[in-house]
Amino acid sequence: MDRPRVVAHRGSSAAKAEHTLAAYELALAEGADGLECDVRLTSDGHLVCIHDRTIDRTSNGTGAVSEMTLAELSQFDYGKPGEPAELLTLHRLLELVMDWTSVPVKLFVETKHPVRYGALVEAKLLDALASFGLATPASADFSRVVVMSFAGSAVWRVRRAAPLLPTVLLGETSRYLRGSAATTVGATAIGPSIMTLREHHDLVDRAAASGRATYCWTVDDPADVELCRELGVGWVATNHPGRTRLQLEAA
Ligand code: G3P
Ligand code: CA
Repeated sequence: MDRPRVVAHRGSSAAKAEHTLAAYELALAEGADGLECDVRLTSDGHLVCIHDRTIDRTSNGTGAVSEMTLAELSQFDYGKPGEPAELLTLHRLLELVMDWTSVPVKLFVETKHPVRYGALVEAKLLDALASFGLATPASADFSRVVVMSFAGSAVWRVRRAAPLLPTVLLGETSRYLRGSAATTVGATAIGPSIMTLREHHDLVDRAAASGRATYCWTVDDPADVELCRELGVGWVATNHPGRTRLQLEAA
């Protein structure tokens, strides 16, 4: 496959509430090649799929994820009006990925704010992956999971503990992504935003020259999807996985 592969950003999140089971099930039905999720740690040590520091924007509750237990967080509704949805745990999402055997969809897990928790988020993540037999793939290409972070320290810890797991070093600036950080932390791919990539096309070839793929986020505009295809981006994360896959397959 030489087209960019399509990663459903927070699930099929333009259509369904982000980070809900319904959003991920729709993404799979739409033919996404990968699923993206953010994970945070609850006060009692569970990894849950939530982007923000608090649940205020994405639920009918309020408060910081890190200050509530899984049971407390689970009391709230994470759906859209008229479409209630439960809190999604990483464990439940891994079950969904493992049950989806028709195509080997990849799960891109982004650890949020790992610096605050030291190595605990990555350790919990690797424990969860190990319990599904996903922490020691035969090779990076065959891995069902990719770990991502804006924190180089998090990527480095994952590479050290699980050397065969592929990783993406996410970055806000071209300067950071064209520097030595990806090599230093052992990232197997770089992750620029589409805003950065629009201005710095050479990032893709530079990454490829050092054996790295490019993962670009968040690519919702069809013109940007086409740009990623022309540049040879490996993965595009989008809130519209169905529409994006159809566009790329028609090209
Ligand atoms: O896929 C990477 C992208 O999700 C990073 O930004 O804020 O959406 O987590 P954010
Ligand atoms: Ca993310």
